[in-house]
Amino acid sequence: MKVALTYNLKKKDPLKPEDYFSECDSEETINSLINALKNKGHSVEAIDVEHPALFSYFKKNRVDMVFNIAEGRQGRFRESEVPAVLDYLNIPYTGSATFSLALALNKALTKKILKAENIPTPDFQLFVRGDEILSPELAFPLIVKPNCEGSAKGINKMNVVNNKEELFARVRECINIYRQGALVEEFIEGKELTVGILENGKTRVLPILEIDFSNCKKSGEYFYSWKMKEFQGNTELGLAPEFYCPARLDKDIEEKVKDVALRTHHAVGCLDISRTDIRLDKNNTPYVLEINPLPGLDPKESNFPIMAYAAGMKYDDLIEAILMSASERKRLN
Ligand SMILES: Nc1ncnc2c1ncn2[C@@H]1O[C@H](COP(=O)(O)OP(=O)(O)OP(=O)(O)O)[C@@H](O)[C@H]1O
Ligand SMILES: [Mg+2]
Repeated sequence: MKVALTYNLKKKDPLKPEDYFSECDSEETINSLINALKNKGHSVEAIDVEHPALFSYFKKNRVDMVFNIAEGRQGRFRESEVPAVLDYLNIPYTGSATFSLALALNKALTKKILKAENIPTPDFQLFVRGDEILSPELAFPLIVKPNCEGSAKGINKMNVVNNKEELFARVRECINIYRQGALVEEFIEGKELTVGILENGKTRVLPILEIDFSNCKKSGEYFYSWKMKEFQGNTELGLAPEFYCPARLDKDIEEKVKDVALRTHHAVGCLDISRTDIRLDKNNTPYVLEINPLPGLDPKESNFPIMAYAAGMKYDDLIEAILMSASERKRLN
């Protein structure tokens, strides 16, 4: 198959904020994807989304399939930019389509849909000005997050707040820095889980990954903060959580968690692949924090490949499975 890989390359620019490129992919990840596709017999051309002539490139170069991991260039709908161009040109691509990508980037809107589908998600309130009245239904501790970011941008241990004073300070900071609404939701103390869905012939839930932060005393970061993601594995800084895949769960809870992730995947209309972040509360209720239709695919560091390996797949098989799922859809359309 003639495949084009669309991506955003992680760069270094001291003039940009430290988390500016966090959502982008490293050269190693991009090379691993190219190699995996080549190993499976495909020809591959990789195109950075910053390419000034992206549109005319695709107009001139017909490919059979685009393997899309691009975050897009800017704005609230950035992840749907490349799929929108490809839809316009009638070129098939892997992964979710424009609507689901834009929706999943908006955490509050996604949570409204989850609530309508009776999928548990923490109670929340969206602050857009920063002087709204806090809903009396929300109980501290609360967490403050930018409504439309990923890679835990803008999420650190200070964002877990215990009173109104802390809350409004963080909310205003979030609105000022990220120029978007601040999502405030109840902080769920409990096991951190993430669930990978891979549509491989039939839809398949991968073994659940549990991330245990209890040994991160040195940093005092007991959840998947930006620092934890950015410097993952650094024991000096106390940023090396332990991973368990499959997660240490009783069978009935495991089934409940998988069911909730699968229902989230379908509720948001995801295709081929997704990763749903979940926390278990003290009653073992799985609360969906968010869904990632473009989960990281770093073969060494990302959560999704860890789950695929636990299912007995090699990296190349995982990439081929995503490609085959998309090409099967193209065949049926
Ligand atoms: N309501 C919550 N209760 C407990 N922990 C939370 C909550 N919301 C977020 N967290 C913690 O913060 C982390 C990042 O939050 P979230 O997944 O919403 O952000 P993100 O930036 O979209 O993440 P990703 O890197 O997966 O794209 C979670 O994995 C979890 O550890
Ligand atoms: Mg997340």
